[in-house]
Amino acid sequence: MSNIIDGKAMAAALVEETAIAAAKFNDAHGIKPGLAVVLVGEDPASAVYVRNKVKQATNAGLNSIEHRLPADTSQQTLNQLVDDLNNDAKVHGILVQLPLPEHLDEEHIIQAIDPAKDVDGFHPLNAGALATGQQALVPCTPLGCLIMLQRTLGDLSGKHAVVIGRSNIVGKPMAALLLQANCTVTTVHSRTQDIVGICSQADIIVAAVGRANFVQADWVKTGAVVIDVGINAIEQDGKRKLVGDVDFAQVAPKAAAITPVPGGVGPMTIACLMKNTLTAANQQMQS
Ligand code: GUN
Repeated sequence: MSNIIDGKAMAAALVEETAIAAAKFNDAHGIKPGLAVVLVGEDPASAVYVRNKVKQATNAGLNSIEHRLPADTSQQTLNQLVDDLNNDAKVHGILVQLPLPEHLDEEHIIQAIDPAKDVDGFHPLNAGALATGQQALVPCTPLGCLIMLQRTLGDLSGKHAVVIGRSNIVGKPMAALLLQANCTVTTVHSRTQDIVGICSQADIIVAAVGRANFVQADWVKTGAVVIDVGINAIEQDGKRKLVGDVDFAQVAPKAAAITPVPGGVGPMTIACLMKNTLTAANQQMQS
């Protein structure tokens, strides 16, 4: 049997589960859960991500509302749009695609989104709620990684998980989720001494550093489960290719299970955005 974790298939299953729950929500409230996606500017990678998010929203039985703004949009105009979406009862989730053009203040926009509609889980109130074990909207990428780990390994209690990277979007919330799942968690980063020694003790490795083929075979214990969050564009034989943070060809033979790039974490991230929108919609109806 293959040891490759099929992120596409797991994401399709999660989207289907969400679609069933979204239909129930529609029956109960006479409205579909609504997701507003805001894209500012013309960044090609962001445009692809947004297109995929809008497409999956339809598959998940959500109402998706796309707002495209020009690259020279002012902070005031973006603030006004977020404010309008915060006050729109048809919108249960708001996602402002990052990165924003340089003249716009990302922190300000993240904090302007109503925490109840913050389906990215980036607002400090949601980050704090996750860190203290309270009800929170959880960032989609680490949530997707956790679901993949649980669907691969079952109970994660007592496993030593090493998270490589300490970003607010992936590393920190990933460590919080693994701790909540009763793992022993180590976060390693650019200043860590002996990364290789620490990683080679791990039962679970989550790599989120943004460096192509960073994790090598001698970093990985035989039988470890490896989750690769990286999406790095490299040139190989004159062609552009996407690779992860893990040297897949070298590491895969040692791992009990490993996610590929593409087709691993990426589809699960989008599926979790749909799940979060449904969660946000249900919570808004209860409050
Ligand atoms: N840009 C890349 N990943 C993400 C994400 O998960 N959310 C948002 N809002 N922007 C992103």
